[in-house]
Amino acid sequence: MRPSFFHHLHPPTIPSKQSRWRYTLGAGGTAIFLVLVLIVTGTLEMFYYIPTPENAPLTVQTISYLVPFGGLVRNLHFWSAQLLLIVTSIHLVRVVFTGSYAPPRRFNYLLGLALFVLAILLDFSGYVLRWDTGIQWALVTGTNLIKTIPIVGGTLYGALIGGSEPGPATLIRFYALHIFGLMLPTAFLVGWHAFRVRRDGGIAVAPPNLHSDNARITRFELVRREILAMIFTSSALLLLSIFLPAPIAAPIQGIPALSGTATAPWFFLWVQQMLKWGDPFLWGVVVPLCVLLILALFPFVFPRPAVHELGSWFPKSNRLAQITLGVIAIMIILLSLLANVH
Ligand code: HEM
Repeated sequence: MRPSFFHHLHPPTIPSKQSRWRYTLGAGGTAIFLVLVLIVTGTLEMFYYIPTPENAPLTVQTISYLVPFGGLVRNLHFWSAQLLLIVTSIHLVRVVFTGSYAPPRRFNYLLGLALFVLAILLDFSGYVLRWDTGIQWALVTGTNLIKTIPIVGGTLYGALIGGSEPGPATLIRFYALHIFGLMLPTAFLVGWHAFRVRRDGGIAVAPPNLHSDNARITRFELVRREILAMIFTSSALLLLSIFLPAPIAAPIQGIPALSGTATAPWFFLWVQQMLKWGDPFLWGVVVPLCVLLILALFPFVFPRPAVHELGSWFPKSNRLAQITLGVIAIMIILLSLLANVH
């Protein structure tokens, strides 16, 4: 058979340990499926969506209420985007809590982290495309943070917003960014990341001479498990889309401004909470970038997990990495909850 990308990802047999649900949680594969759903549903939305301040909220309403199956397509797009953030976070936690970030997987860990950042930016830019009153925090406070960066802040803000305040140029820029600046690189990086998993020897497990369970599964069994994960994810997406429609509020009239009730999108609530403590450059730019830097440094600063411990959760040899990620995750969750209290 001619070698293909599909066969590269699905060799004739693989160690069964590498595809155990309780080990991988199926999170990486589910993330690939969600990216595919996002591409298909986003492309369909492009047939109706018009990226101008007068038309954007109205065409979103047209898609939701008038276009046949438009509401379903939009809700699927919205929920895939939210689930992608949750599933990639779970995947990241799994990779760290199993010590799979260490060489030879260090480069792929960084590719994954880049994908995580892209998923957040995709979600953020997607929110802005609604141009309704529900996105004013993202549009006003979120983009104002860029201005606080010393020396280059003003120029960066002008380049992103297309002027001195949000307006028609902002929307067209976010639209172009959402599709060409973020979605295209995401699709490319997903392919590269999946390719590298196999190139690095498959999912990290101890070599056969170090464990007793040397069972293998075939390519067909692997595909069967992938299809099962897709059916499960599709069912969850359909249920969410039917019972919890994607939000849409009143159109923004004139220049966007912050109302007292404006809130950040859920994945930036922790930043919104920190901004209450003062200096927006420190809390809104420096601290989030430090969190990202700490995550990127994991494979460089923490000791390599012992080879015989690979393939199991919570190896003793990488406790420090587990504790660091645990503390970061708990802080982010607590801050997000606090933001909802006040
Ligand atoms: C859109 C985002 C992502 C997609 C589509 C994706 C996809 C995948 C897939 C399919 C696998 C193999 C199966 C599995 O582990 O479930 C994998 C493994 C891996 N991913 Fe990701 N991933 C993403 C984000 C991330 C993130 C955020 C990180 C960490 C920062 C990461 C790091 C890794 C590493 C190191 C492996 C190899 C794991 C091992 O050998 O056990 N990925 N990814």
